Amino acid sequence: MELVNELQRFQFTRLARGAEARDGADVVAGLTSSPKTLPCKYFYDAAGSHLFEQICETPEYYPTRTERSILTRHAGDIAALTGPCEIVEFGSGTASKTRLLLDAYADGAKEVHFVPIDVSESVLRESSRDLVTRYAALSIRGFSGTYEQALAALHPAPAPARMFVFLGSTIGNFRNAERRAFVARIRDAMATGDYFLLGIDRRKDPAIIETAYNDSQGFTARFNLNILAHLNRRFHGNIVIDNFTHRAFYEPRRFQIEMWLESRVAQQAALADLGLSVGLARGESIRTEISKKFDPVDLAAEFTAMGLGQVALWSDHKQWFSLVLFRLEAKVDGGDGAAP
Ligand code: SAH
Ligand code: AVI
Repeated sequence: MELVNELQRFQFTRLARGAEARDGADVVAGLTSSPKTLPCKYFYDAAGSHLFEQICETPEYYPTRTERSILTRHAGDIAALTGPCEIVEFGSGTASKTRLLLDAYADGAKEVHFVPIDVSESVLRESSRDLVTRYAALSIRGFSGTYEQALAALHPAPAPARMFVFLGSTIGNFRNAERRAFVARIRDAMATGDYFLLGIDRRKDPAIIETAYNDSQGFTARFNLNILAHLNRRFHGNIVIDNFTHRAFYEPRRFQIEMWLESRVAQQAALADLGLSVGLARGESIRTEISKKFDPVDLAAEFTAMGLGQVALWSDHKQWFSLVLFRLEAKVDGGDGAAP
């Protein structure tokens, strides 16, 4: 752990990469499993974060602008409900939508602190520098590292309440069991009366979803392929990016869009620092991401079983996306709310 003082009102803690497990152990596990998979956090180096921003601006990728429209209308309601608070945001990225929340707290003259958490250090630094310049009263204490590492390193909240924020439907990138375990960890980090604001992408015509993950300008394809370029840079690999093709399709039984990288040829790929060399058959694919689409009623039931009561739900007029505000009613002992 290393404390970095960036600017007067912005400091962040760099959480050591090797702290959870050997750096890259999850890559080895994924590439030696069947089917081959990669953890989606490896999308996000500086190049991947930039490509994600470009995806958000495409006409096909509706989640960002839909969530923004909901926040534009309801950020004031959220600030009024929580009162002064510390906002702890998972996967904050450019924090462009978070600004709507910060504006609402500033308008209501409510004290607010910001704790961004992101595995992509470049985006964390750039967005936080920008925010302290824009908001004269804001103090930022961020974390460069994974959600889990940051949760373990959280300091006591300096405000009467804390609101955990997870926007963009990034929670959809977890498998069901991972999501429940993650929410249980957040719940355990919450004090009674703390809030959890969650953005969720909802179920809809699969054609709309598939189009969003196959944009016509090819940013999603480049974002998907960048995971391999990132692995090459980070672990001294020799993966030939042009040997792979982006695929994204909706899996209706699991209510999720899946992104895969299909091998165009029979090939061998190595990551020297991990001592890994894997063979891929022509047509074999690596799953790089799942993105679940939710029914808010089912999700609220899952959260309620974990002690998190739904305070409010806001949606766009097409019901494509929702923001849900939960509150920890009372501390409970353990359990992830999952059926045995
Ligand atoms: N919240 C923003 C960005 C979403 S993209 C929005 O709604 O538009 C997902 C963000 O989460 C990226 O900035 C990525 O770097 C970060 N991220 C992904 N996996 C992560 C992990 N395991 N731990 C911490 N940050 C992660
Ligand atoms: C960050 N996450 C919620 C995005 C999603 O839609 O699952 C990442 C993304 N993948 C392809 N396009 C965008």
